[in-house]
Amino acid sequence: RKAKAGQFIMVTPTEHGERIPLTMADFSPEKGTITIAALEVGKTTRELGTLKAGDKLFSLVGPLGLPTHLHKYGNVVSIGGGIGLALMYPVVRSFKQSGNHTINIVGARNEKLLMYESEIKSVSDEFFVCTDDGTKGHKGFVSDILKDLIAKGNKIDLVYAVGPIIMMKVIANITKAHNIKTIVSLNPIMVDGTGMCGSCRVIIKGETKFGCVDGPEFDGHEVDFENLTARNKRYMPEEQIALRRWQGAK
Ligand SMILES: Cc1cc2nc3c(=O)[nH]c(=O)nc-3n(C[C@H](O)[C@H](O)[C@H](O)COP(=O)(O)OP(=O)(O)OC[C@H]3O[C@@H](n4cnc5c(N)ncnc54)[C@H](O)[C@@H]3O)c2cc1C
Ligand code: FES
Repeated sequence: RKAKAGQFIMVTPTEHGERIPLTMADFSPEKGTITIAALEVGKTTRELGTLKAGDKLFSLVGPLGLPTHLHKYGNVVSIGGGIGLALMYPVVRSFKQSGNHTINIVGARNEKLLMYESEIKSVSDEFFVCTDDGTKGHKGFVSDILKDLIAKGNKIDLVYAVGPIIMMKVIANITKAHNIKTIVSLNPIMVDGTGMCGSCRVIIKGETKFGCVDGPEFDGHEVDFENLTARNKRYMPEEQIALRRWQGAK
């Protein structure tokens, strides 16, 4: 009932599990439901994947983070890549409801990984699909479409990007050169998700901010993407050990 576009929840699938942040890909105040979509990348998301309808999550905390700042900007180009597409649908729906002209670009490695395509299309004034391998839409990156829109002289009042860090960084670099306001939704490592630990700290315009309470959305031109990339890799060996142990115990 309190959920707003751009916010997330912290989920612990089982009693001995860790807390992970996941976006609310959809929510219905009438039904009292929220929808999450998770990509199985490691132990916790795979464990989540084994749950069936009727099973209970050990814990769920939220809504967390600041909602997307909604406003009538004009022409809004929203770009989502991979698992970022889970967040994109409620955000672009809200942009549309706020009276914007919505130009939406979705991308994934291949057609099978394209999520929420029809939902996003349903709230798009203009819609573009890209896949890295060309199985659907434009063969190439979402940034190619953005470059093309800019080159054709389209008036763009806001760019919103959510997806892999490298994708958000490339988009921010393109828009910076053209002075187009750009918002990115960041994905730092989170523990409590409520502002108590600083695990999710990110550097914004040289200042430390907490992704979970000051974000997850920030001005793309102010983000230190190198720092974010390095910080997100900091538990890689432990993540691999946890996954192997869990697979061995199954
Ligand atoms: C605000 C926010 C919203 C997110 N929304 C979604 C979503 O809707 N769907 C989705 O599939 N994923 C989402 N993620 C990413 C998701 O949290 C990670 O994929 C998940 O934590 C991986 O856990 P794992 O044990 O399966 O994988 P691991 O093997 O532990 O890790 C794989 C990758 O996930 C990252 N990761 C691991 N633990 C955390 C953590 N506690 N916090 C953040 N990142 C972590 C690691 O840096 C690594 O790159 C979101 C992240 C943030 C910060
Ligand atoms: S996750 Fe602990 S302060 Fe943000």
